Amino acid sequence: MSPSTDPTQRAAELREEIRSHNYGYYVLGEPSIPDADWDDLMRELKEIETAHPDLITLDSPTQRVGAEVETTFAPVTHLQRMFSLDNVESEDELRAWESRLVRALGEPPSAYMCELKIDGLAVSLTYEDGVLVRGATRGDGVTGEDVTANVRTIRSIPLRLCGDVPDVLEVRGEIYLPVAEFAALNRRQEELGRKPYVNPRNTAAGSVRQKDPTKTAARNLAVWLYQVGYVAGGPSFATHSETMRWLTDLGFPVNPENRVVVSIDEVVDYVENATRHRHDHEYETDGIVIKVDDLTLQEKAGFTAKSPRWATAYKLPPEEKSTILKAIEINVGRTGAVTPYAVLEPVFVGGVTVEHATLHNEGEVHRKDVRPGDTVIVRRAGDVIPEVVGPILTKRPTDLPEWHMPELCPFCNNPIVLTDGQAKAKCTGGFACPSRIREYLFHFASRGAMDIEGLGYKTVDTLLRKGIIADPADVFVLDRARLLELDGWGETSVDNLLAAIERAKDAGVGRLLTGLGVPLIGGTVARTMAHEFRSLPTLMSVTEDELGAIDGIGPEIVASWIGWASDPDNIHLVERLGEAGVRLEDPEPDTPTSDRLAGKVFVITGTLEGFTRPEAKAAIEARGGKVTGSVSSKTDYLVAGASAGSKLTKAEQLGVPVLDEAAFNNLLFGE
Ligand code: IVH
Repeated sequence: MSPSTDPTQRAAELREEIRSHNYGYYVLGEPSIPDADWDDLMRELKEIETAHPDLITLDSPTQRVGAEVETTFAPVTHLQRMFSLDNVESEDELRAWESRLVRALGEPPSAYMCELKIDGLAVSLTYEDGVLVRGATRGDGVTGEDVTANVRTIRSIPLRLCGDVPDVLEVRGEIYLPVAEFAALNRRQEELGRKPYVNPRNTAAGSVRQKDPTKTAARNLAVWLYQVGYVAGGPSFATHSETMRWLTDLGFPVNPENRVVVSIDEVVDYVENATRHRHDHEYETDGIVIKVDDLTLQEKAGFTAKSPRWATAYKLPPEEKSTILKAIEINVGRTGAVTPYAVLEPVFVGGVTVEHATLHNEGEVHRKDVRPGDTVIVRRAGDVIPEVVGPILTKRPTDLPEWHMPELCPFCNNPIVLTDGQAKAKCTGGFACPSRIREYLFHFASRGAMDIEGLGYKTVDTLLRKGIIADPADVFVLDRARLLELDGWGETSVDNLLAAIERAKDAGVGRLLTGLGVPLIGGTVARTMAHEFRSLPTLMSVTEDELGAIDGIGPEIVASWIGWASDPDNIHLVERLGEAGVRLEDPEPDTPTSDRLAGKVFVITGTLEGFTRPEAKAAIEARGGKVTGSVSSKTDYLVAGASAGSKLTKAEQLGVPVLDEAAFNNLLFGE
C-alpha cells in the first residue's frame, strides 16, 4: 500500500506506524526500525500537524509532551478503589496466609499468579474508547491526584490502545525509574556538584510530581501494569492471568516475570528464585505479590478494610534502613590518602550488619550533607558496598554542625593537606604515620605484591605496635629471637614467616614495584616497567621521556612515578631494601637463565608486540628450547602474534597448542 496523499489519512497512517514501532521498542524491548527511520516518521507527522493544526489528536505520538499543558494535581476519584496489600515476611507466614485463605474459600485455589513487586509508585490510568484520558496517583486509595500530563510523557504508556478496546478501562501499575537511568542521573548530579538523589523509587515519585511535564519526560521513567481496576464494555475473564494477557494485547507493558503456579509450594519456589535473581533486572523490587488467579474465588475471598484477602505481598529484606551517624572518622591509606568514613549505629540492611561506610572525601560529605548526629539512610543493594545515602532532615537536631576534615592526622599529628578542592586529602606524615605504614605494609606483603605468607593485617599491626618494624625494609632484617618473644608465636610460625620473607627477597622487580604501592602503578603497569627496565635502581633515575616511550604507560603514570622516585623517603627506602638483601634487578632475558623450555620445539608466526623475531627466538633458545620454521606434529608450541596465517590454521588442525603473546610471556617469565 502506498502512502496516502490525503493529510488526514496520512497522519493516521503515520500515527499507527509510529505506535507499532513504539510498542516494539518500549514495551517488547525489540526495536523494529532504525532510530533514524523512526525520526523520519515523526518528522513527517509533525510537519503535517504544523500545516494542519486541526488534525492534531490527543493520542498523537507528537503530543506526549504538550507544550502548554501543566500538571494540575487536581483530585481524581478512582472508578475503583486502589487497595494496598497485606504482607508476609517468611515462608511460615506465607503458608499461614494460605491456610486462612483456604478456610475462607472452603477449598484451596487451583492457581496463583506470582508477580514481582516493583519498587516504584502506583499509578492508575484511565482509557476511554481506547484513548488515555487520565493518569492519577494512588492518594489515599479513594482519591488521587491528576498527573495526566506527566504520565503521558512515559513512553511505555500507550496513548491509544490496540485492537478491540473497551468503552472505559482503568488499569493499575507501577511507575519506576530504571536503575541505570538513576545511576546516570546521579553521575550528572555529581558532575554538577549537586546533592545525589536518594534512590530510584523516590526519584520516580518526584519525577511524576513535577509541575512541568518536560521535566518528567527527561527522566526516562517506565511502567509495568499489574491489575485491572475497572472495565465497562469489555470482555469478561475467568482469571487474573487472562486479564494480564488481555492488557498485553491492548499494548500495555506487563512484566514477563509473572507466572501462574498451581500450589503454595510452587509459590515458595518462585519466591526463592525471585530472591536469588533480585538484582538481575533493570528495576528494583521489594517483594513478590501473590494473587489468587481465579476471579470468582477472588470475589469470594473479598477484602479487609484496606487490602484484598486474595492477595499478599512477600516482603524482601529492605535494602535501605535509617540509623544514627555516630561519627565521621578518617582512614589514612597506604599512599597517605585520607578518606572519611561513617561510623554508624549498627544496622541490618541488605542481608548484613553495617557499621561503617566510606564517604570518599570531604566534598562528598558536604554534597550529601551528612553530619555526625544525623539520622541517615543506609543502603546496601545486592553485593554493592554499603553506602550512606543522605540525612533525614526532619530528624536533624537543631544546630548540628557540619563536619570538616581535621587539620592534623589523628594517627601521627602531622598536617593533612587538601588538594583538588576538597576531593583529595593527604597526610603529610609519610612513613611516620602509623596508619599509613600499616596499610602500606599490608599491601606490600599481599599476594599480588611480595606475597609474604604469614604477614597479614594482624601480624603487621603487632610488629608495628611492638616497634619491631617501621618500614618495608625492616621486614627483611627481622630478628628471630625477638619474634619468639611475642605472645602466641612458636618456633614453627616464626620459622615459616622467616622462610616466606627469605623467598620474597627474590620476588623480582615486578612484584617489588607492585608492593611499593606507587599511585596508579598496579600489577600490570609494574610488570611492564620491570620487563622494560629490569632494575629498580635504573627506574629510580629514569627520565620522563624514557618511561613515557613505553606502550601502556601514559603521562599520568609517568608523573606519578617521577614524583615518587624523586621523594627522598622513597630513595632511601629503595636503598635500604637493597641493603636488606632484596633483589632489585631482574636477569637479562637473553642470557640463558634456565632450562625451563629444554627440548621443546617452537614455531613463531605473526607479529609480536614485545619482541622482534630474533628476540623471540633468542628468548626461547636461552631457556633451552628450539625454534623451527614449519608446523608439524613434532611442534610443541606455535607462538602466534597478530595477523597469523596458514601456520596458525595448520597448528589448529594438528592440535598443536597455540600461545598468544601473553601466554608466551607467561611461559618465558611466569612462575
Ligand atoms: S497488586 C489489589 N501487584 O505494591 C491489589 N501491586 O501495597 C493491588 N506493587 O500499592 C496491588 N508491584 O504500588 C500489585 N505486581 C504488583 C505490584 C504491586 C508493585 C505495589 C503497588 C501497591 C503496593 C502494595
